[in-house]
Amino acid sequence: MRYEVDFLVIGSGIAGLSYALKVAPYGKVCILTKGDASEGSTKYAQGGIAAVMYDTDSFDKHIADTLVAGDGICDRDVVEMTIREAPERIRELVQYGVNFDMSTGGRFDLHREGGHSEFRILHHKDNTGAEIERGLLQAIHDHPNIELKENQFAIDIITQHHLGQRVTKHTPDIDCYGVYALNCKTNEIDTYLAKVTLLATGGMGNVYTTTTTPIISTGDGVAMVHRARGVLKDLEFMQFHPTSLYNPAEKPAFLITEAMRGAGAILKDRNGKEFMQKYDKRLSLAPRDIVARAIDNEMKQAGVEYVFLDARGIGKNELISGFPTIYAKCLELGINITKDMIPVRPAAHYQCGGVKVDRNGRSSIHHLYAAGECSCTGLHGGNRLASNSLLEAAVYAHNAAMDAIDIVKTTAINNAVPDWNAEGMVLNEEMVLITQTKKELQEIMWNYVGIVRSDLRLQRAFDRLNLIFRETEELYNRSVLTEELSELRNLIACAYLIIKQAKARRENVGLHYSIDLVK
Ligand code: FAD
Ligand code: SIN
Repeated sequence: MRYEVDFLVIGSGIAGLSYALKVAPYGKVCILTKGDASEGSTKYAQGGIAAVMYDTDSFDKHIADTLVAGDGICDRDVVEMTIREAPERIRELVQYGVNFDMSTGGRFDLHREGGHSEFRILHHKDNTGAEIERGLLQAIHDHPNIELKENQFAIDIITQHHLGQRVTKHTPDIDCYGVYALNCKTNEIDTYLAKVTLLATGGMGNVYTTTTTPIISTGDGVAMVHRARGVLKDLEFMQFHPTSLYNPAEKPAFLITEAMRGAGAILKDRNGKEFMQKYDKRLSLAPRDIVARAIDNEMKQAGVEYVFLDARGIGKNELISGFPTIYAKCLELGINITKDMIPVRPAAHYQCGGVKVDRNGRSSIHHLYAAGECSCTGLHGGNRLASNSLLEAAVYAHNAAMDAIDIVKTTAINNAVPDWNAEGMVLNEEMVLITQTKKELQEIMWNYVGIVRSDLRLQRAFDRLNLIFRETEELYNRSVLTEELSELRNLIACAYLIIKQAKARRENVGLHYSIDLVK
């Protein structure tokens, strides 16, 4: 099938949905999402969204905290813009119908997380993301100009390459005409032509064995831009959240929000002794890279697979009412967090890098925007400050929308684009070729390209990845396309980019830490 729209959106998390709501008065909008509409990292966000809402805090402090966490390589102008825009974007979320917890005085109830010098995290209990997703989806469903299509898997961005022209990373004017997408219900590959396209495909946590991110986080947007020869940046900065619940059988790993440490929970070793004083004077509330490395070190030294988070000092009532989801989840596993310490370990959580965009969310490819976790704006630098990502997604969805509304007026659909050609492809009946390769890839990345790296580990990972890449390309070139195969290819592309950019970085900064670069 062929479809034509003004605004095409790939992804239905906070970035895709807030952009769609803003452009909808100006044309026909189509949102493609590969699973159920609500499935994505947004739904799982616990802690909340950072913004300066009252005079007790200041933009300058939030800016300073963001710059410190980013380890000196944030884009200062972007940081200033994002943080100053935050209160306006929060007010819009509230107008769309999103609820944040209020204190008794009628002000937003604010939490504090690692790296923040103030209480400035707006939240909805410990399930903020689910509330944001609910509110935005409701507003989307109520809008007559927006069509949201589930189970549609975007495979590739359509550019001049698909018109038979040679496109390299040096081609100056690569243009995006839309995407090819697999309809996962009919198994047909459809052509979506658009005047402008927004990528809002989220992160790539599934490159690693243990991740807090949902199964949809397979780096599809980044891989598509890589294949389309667009510019990508900062992919070596994968953020590992220090405290995912240790429950090895569970995927994704369940998050124990940093807000719990903000409320007073303390990291302890297997003997119940505090250890963060050995690593940082901010103790359990040091920035995430420092806490994750400290836990990694403690686990490796003791030869164990987890440490503990002790939340017992917070008080029973505050724990149960402030963290109801975590309380219930742990209880299900026989852990009463008001009495027992919580076993935790780090997990891949957030990709700071991605599709390089300017302040209007424009990528290096014309008519292609990116927002949310798949993008790299310069806000996070070497390490994202907690709860700055939902904010970044809202701010860049807004900026991209304002720009796209203008661009769409002078852009035409390119009707010369051919449909997808699947001639000669055969059905791959051996799923093991995909499932086993995915496991191998995740283990390579976890063991060699994780929290702590070295030149040797990176080279090993690179060599092993090469084999996996060649085998999978051969499979792809002869097989009928499926979501699983496409995701595997995308994960391999993302792993390759992470390793390549990690190898190129010759100093320890932010989340990139190599034992060979310690001074
Ligand atoms: P997502 O919400 O991940 O949505 C991506 C969308 O793209 C999905 O709809 C998916 O189906 C779709 N998609 C992907 N590939 C394709 C494709 N090929 N074709 C079609 N559709 C596709 N950040 C904070 O600021 N505060 C927090 O408290 C917080 N807590 C977090 C807790 C957890 C457990 C996790 C995992 C992350 C957390 N984060 C938090 C990070 C934050 O949630 C994400 O960065 C943010 O939600 C990303 O939003 P997004 O719209 O970019 O992507
Ligand atoms: C958390 O709640 O700890 C996650 C916050 C974030 O990832 O920004």
